[in-house]
Amino acid sequence: MQDVVIEDLKLFDDDGAEGPDEILAFSRTVLVDRLHQLLGSTSIQGLRHAIGDLKEQLRAPDSDLRAPTGEVDTVDFEKTHILDELDQIAAARTLERARYYVERLFKSVAEVRTSPINDINLNRWKEYGDIYTDSLWIVKRRDNSGVHNAGYWGNFIPQIPNQMMRRYTKKGDWVLDTFAGLGTTLIEGQRLGRNTIGIELQPDVGERARRLVASEPNLHSIVTELVIGDSTTVGYGDILRRHGQRSVQLVVMHPPYFDIIKFSDDPRDLSNAASVDAFLLQMGRAVDNAAQWLDHGRFLVLVIGDKYEKGQWLPLGFLTMNEIMKRGFLLKSIIVKNFEETTGKRNQAELWRYRALVGGFYIFKHEYIFVFIKR
Ligand SMILES: C[S@@+](CC[C@H](N)C(=O)[O-])C[C@H]1O[C@@H](n2cnc3c(N)ncnc32)[C@H](O)[C@@H]1O
Repeated sequence: MQDVVIEDLKLFDDDGAEGPDEILAFSRTVLVDRLHQLLGSTSIQGLRHAIGDLKEQLRAPDSDLRAPTGEVDTVDFEKTHILDELDQIAAARTLERARYYVERLFKSVAEVRTSPINDINLNRWKEYGDIYTDSLWIVKRRDNSGVHNAGYWGNFIPQIPNQMMRRYTKKGDWVLDTFAGLGTTLIEGQRLGRNTIGIELQPDVGERARRLVASEPNLHSIVTELVIGDSTTVGYGDILRRHGQRSVQLVVMHPPYFDIIKFSDDPRDLSNAASVDAFLLQMGRAVDNAAQWLDHGRFLVLVIGDKYEKGQWLPLGFLTMNEIMKRGFLLKSIIVKNFEETTGKRNQAELWRYRALVGGFYIFKHEYIFVFIKR
C-alpha cells in the first residue's frame, strides 16, 4: 500500500514548486444560469459544444461570468478544478450521464452543505485535497510559516492543530488547548478564525507564546488567550465567562510524554510525575477538568508518544488513551504520525541503530493523535 505524504499536499507545499492553483471568482447567479442552460441540452453533441463555449468564457477575464469587484454573491473555484469538472461532463458517453455530472456541479455552485462540526462544504468535498483523511501521516517538514518555529523542544508541528481545527470546528468556535507550550494551537486558531484558550504552567513559556500570537495578524478578529496555570485545577468556568462563553467546541491535549522531556522543576508539571501511574492520575485530572466544558458531540484530541525504559516499551499513548475512554469518550481514530528527522536525531542515528540491533528493539519513529468524541 502506498503512504500518502502530507507534505505533498497543497496546504503544506511551502517551497512553491507546484504552488497553489489560480482561484477564479464567479458570479453565482450567472454561473447557475449557464449550468441551467446546459441541463436543457437535447443531445450529447450539443452539450459538448456548449461545454467548449463555457470553458472559453470561464478563462476570459472580461467574461460576464467573472464576479465584478464588490459583488457579494460570488462562488470561488480553483481554475483546474472547474475545468476538470467540465471536461468530465464533455467526456461522458451518454447524455444521461453528462446530465448527472452537470446536476452535481450545479448543486455545488447553488448550495452550501456543511455538517454541524466544521465548515467543509460537502457539495464540494473533492476540492479539500489538503484535508487529511488517512490514519498514517508522513510529514517531512514542519510548517515554519509566520511566527511558527521549532524553537521549543517538544512543540508539535502546526499541521496537527491546523488539520484538527478544520476537521472538527467551525469559524468562530472555541478551542481549548490544555498544554499550550509555545502556542502552536493558538497561532493556528488565530489564522483559521477560531477563538482559542491555552493553558501553560510555565510563566516564561506562556509569555513567549503571548508575544508570538500578538505578532500574528488577527484577520478574523477572534479571541486568543494564554492563561498561566495548572490544567488539572485551573478554573475554566471563570475564563469562559470572561468571554461570555459557557463551553468549548474542541479540546486539544498535548501533554509531556511523561518524563521524556523535563519541562520545568514545578511539581505540578506532568513531566515531573513520580511514576507512570502518577502521570496517568494527573492526566485523568486534566481531562476531567477540561471535558466538562466540551459540548456533547464535539471532539477531544490527544497527541502523545510512547517511551522506551529499562529495556521495555512503555505504551504511554495507549495507557493515556485508556484513561480518556474510561471517562466515557468514544474513540473515533488513532492516527500514527512519523517523527521528523531533527539534526540531533540524525547525528545519533548510527548509535541508535547499533543499540537497537544489540537490544532487540525498534527505534521510535512515530507518535499518536487520538481522536475522541464526547458522547
Ligand atoms: C508537549 S508540550 C506542548 C507543546 C505545545 N503543543 C506547542 O506546540 O508548543 C507540554 C507543555 O505542557 C506544559 N505543562 C506541563 N504540566 C502542565 C500542567 N499541569 N498544566 C499546564 N501545562 C503543563 C509544559 O510546560 C509544556 O510546555
